[in-house]
Amino acid sequence: MPGEMADEFIVTPWEVKGVIDYDKLVERFGTQRIDETMIERVRRIAGEVHPMLARGIFYSHRDFNWILDEYEKGNKFALYTGRGPSSGVHVGHMLPWILTKWLQDKFHVKLYFQITDDEKYLFKDFDSLDDAKKIAYDNILDIIATGFDPKLTKIFLDTEYIGHLYPVAIRVSKHVTFSITRAVFGFGHSNNVGEIFYTSIQAVPCFLESIEQGSNVPCLIPCGIDQDPHFRIARDAAPLLGYYKPALLHSKLLPGLRGFGEKMSSSQPETVIFLSDGEKQVRHKISNALTGGRPTVEEHRRLGGNPDICVVYANYQFIFEPDENHLKSVYDTCRSGARICGDCKVELADKIVDYLRKHEERKEKARDHVDEFMLRD
Ligand code: TRP
Repeated sequence: MPGEMADEFIVTPWEVKGVIDYDKLVERFGTQRIDETMIERVRRIAGEVHPMLARGIFYSHRDFNWILDEYEKGNKFALYTGRGPSSGVHVGHMLPWILTKWLQDKFHVKLYFQITDDEKYLFKDFDSLDDAKKIAYDNILDIIATGFDPKLTKIFLDTEYIGHLYPVAIRVSKHVTFSITRAVFGFGHSNNVGEIFYTSIQAVPCFLESIEQGSNVPCLIPCGIDQDPHFRIARDAAPLLGYYKPALLHSKLLPGLRGFGEKMSSSQPETVIFLSDGEKQVRHKISNALTGGRPTVEEHRRLGGNPDICVVYANYQFIFEPDENHLKSVYDTCRSGARICGDCKVELADKIVDYLRKHEERKEKARDHVDEFMLRD
């Protein structure tokens, strides 16, 4: 119905458009919400809960209860996440990485980290595979800088580990018809056949630990909810190949700096903070960010602001303010009008600059450790 499309939003692995209604998305995708009971269960097992779980940044899942059931029975799971390499790693990309590191630390489990140079080449982000590879290796430094345990973490580029991936990928692909990719992704006659095959490659790491162990091992995938369509296909194929269905933890997507409806996009550098941004750029971008403030300071003081529609507040909440009490005070003082946008932005920019400086130091150190993490054929 064309009339109904007007205020629609789109979330696919390759396109995010409009203001996302996360409740509707759970219904559309058929996932489960992460509720208080589940959060308390994590607290009981892990001893604490990561702020991204406690605050509902990771808000949806598939079969996470089962992962915890198995864990409590003594069956460890393996973690799996990934990265489509691009020159602009931004702070939004790090959400799953940060939660994945926390899960690795708390549960002492192995992690498979897939770098999809093939995907980024096929979907036209790069003209040459070599460029995709070069960027991939820079992204790997950012990944290592997140703090993963070298003894428990395996990183690989699809094109460098394809000998191991291919036998599994073709088994998956035998169960993925063109009709499925058309229904799930909207593919049509102009999509190249690599694009159509690609999901079978992204499915493989779900099963790598089972193959390594020679017996079934549960797999847990923390990812942005936009990746869920790939894993619906992987979950359907899993039992047909004799494996467990992978479980998922889905995050909301960090909104761009120009407002919730605006796509956060590396092709619009003003809307995102890149990990490589210098202090001046960070301060400039944050000072131009859209807030929930009133048009004048006088009005703001009198009526208060609205943090619920503010991307500056979203940045505190999603990633940059781990302290629950301070986060609450940011929220409350915004509402009351005591906190004005200018000050709030400076405070956020200080936090981001500090975060990026530390990241840069860790990234420098990562350069000497790449080979400790890599799997290659
Ligand atoms: N397709 C993802 C991207 O474009 C990369 C990816 C591969 C991934 N495997 C994954 C992301 C598993 C999350 C979880 O970024």
